[in-house]
Amino acid sequence: MQVKNICCIGAGYVGGPTMAVIALKCPHINVTVVDANPEKIKAWNGPLEQLPVYEPGLAEVVKEARRRNLFFSDDISGNIEKAEMIFMAVNTPTKTEGEGAGMAADLRYIEACALDIAKYSKSDKIVIEKSTLPVRTAEKIKEILISEGSGVHFEILSNPEFLAEGTAIQDLFKSDRVLIGGDETESGQNAVQALVDIYANWIPKEKILTTNVWSSELAKLASNAMLAQRISSINSLSSLCEITGANIEELSKAIGMDHRIGPKFLKASVGFGGSCFQKDILNLVYLCKYYGLEEVADYWHQVIKINDYQKNRFAQKIIDHFGGDLTGKKITVLGWAFKENTNDSRESPAIYVAEKLFKAGAILEIYDPMVSKESIFRNIDFYWGSSKKGDLKSQISVIDSVSKLDLSNDAVAILTQWEAFKSLDYLKTVVFDGRGVLSSSRYSIGRG
Ligand code: UDX
Ligand code: UDX
Repeated sequence: MQVKNICCIGAGYVGGPTMAVIALKCPHINVTVVDANPEKIKAWNGPLEQLPVYEPGLAEVVKEARRRNLFFSDDISGNIEKAEMIFMAVNTPTKTEGEGAGMAADLRYIEACALDIAKYSKSDKIVIEKSTLPVRTAEKIKEILISEGSGVHFEILSNPEFLAEGTAIQDLFKSDRVLIGGDETESGQNAVQALVDIYANWIPKEKILTTNVWSSELAKLASNAMLAQRISSINSLSSLCEITGANIEELSKAIGMDHRIGPKFLKASVGFGGSCFQKDILNLVYLCKYYGLEEVADYWHQVIKINDYQKNRFAQKIIDHFGGDLTGKKITVLGWAFKENTNDSRESPAIYVAEKLFKAGAILEIYDPMVSKESIFRNIDFYWGSSKKGDLKSQISVIDSVSKLDLSNDAVAILTQWEAFKSLDYLKTVVFDGRGVLSSSRYSIGRG
């Protein structure tokens, strides 16, 4: 099948960069990204410095592709109708109510997407799950497409995205693998081939892996669970290091030099954040429970529990340093994004650490090079629940430039590993560094 028009529903951190790269690498295909939020579409069409997603290298790709075959539009129905291939890249947060609340994935946006596709499709379509979904979601999507559609044929593929934020463009250019799951029927395999042909424009054939739909769906959840497990494993050892006098960075290096283990994803931290790890593991835990595999569910749940323990432990360490009460203490919070090189702060450990410091009475001065003041207060409003009832504005200030930071506050908590924070001259202050060393030992107290 010759694909001439691709439509992607969802112009977020996954849909935006992925479609920009597909458009760049496939100049013969028109790629249109649609989104239910017209403001976002406007921003994608606006100045390159203000795209909704910050990713190194993204603006350059968008600049080139937007001149040619990359479009951002709020015409959802028209673009669905026109496309032969439709990607679904809407968000799939953890359910907050109903059965599986707090664990299962909330599929309402995916279902809304499937309904739109059914309603507006007047010719056969290949529908691709790009969002991370519980295994066997394709079945549900198929039901919606068949029962609500007007008799046209749909093939559903799973093509999970493995990009990591902050390195998205690089990851898309040189993916470790592209995974495509499809039905074993003849039409299923034709659809798989159509998608293989697209990636083959820049990804070597041996890196394009085809499987059945269920393996592909589950591989994404399992990959994220394994990665997060490494972080929780090393973080669990960081607490033991602090008691025994072992050094976690030395330990991590020594372990990682065993090539069977490897050095990546072994950096101890204040805990992992981001929109995927927690959500996907909870989703995996829920799936295991659903299928009656209690022990397996408990095993993976422990990865989340260690992560919560680590975030809490870090904040408690600061509170303990000041004798259990932070009333009147000024603490600089360096970094709000869940990792460096992104403006995304979903599930960022900084949100949780700051909340605990705030509750203990601290006056917080927050700075992140890419996360805006509005986003920071939006996060506080969304995540903090009842603890935000205090006098927020008198206790929290957000600084918009590194030059305005007061590094002689009582303590500095480094919560995102931005390069710019490494060269700051910390004054008479205690530095708590979330990465590697959960204490002030890396910076001598009173340095400067
Ligand atoms: C999301 C999920 O978090 C991830 O698990 C999945 O793999 C891909 O989708 P992300 O791109 O980071 O990742 O989400 P987000 O930046 O929130 O973007 C989703 C976009 O979909 C938003 O712009 C939202 O407005 C849009 N959307 C959502 C729709 O267009 N229609 C809907 O019905 C719901
Ligand atoms: C992750 C997966 O890496 C990616 O393949 C998938 O598509 C989406 O989820 P992402 O969440 O964007 O990507 O970033 P990642 O680089 O995995 O970092 C996640 C969190 O783990 C961050 O908070 C990061 O600081 C933390 N981390 C990472 C550590 O604490 N230690 C490490 O050694 C590595």
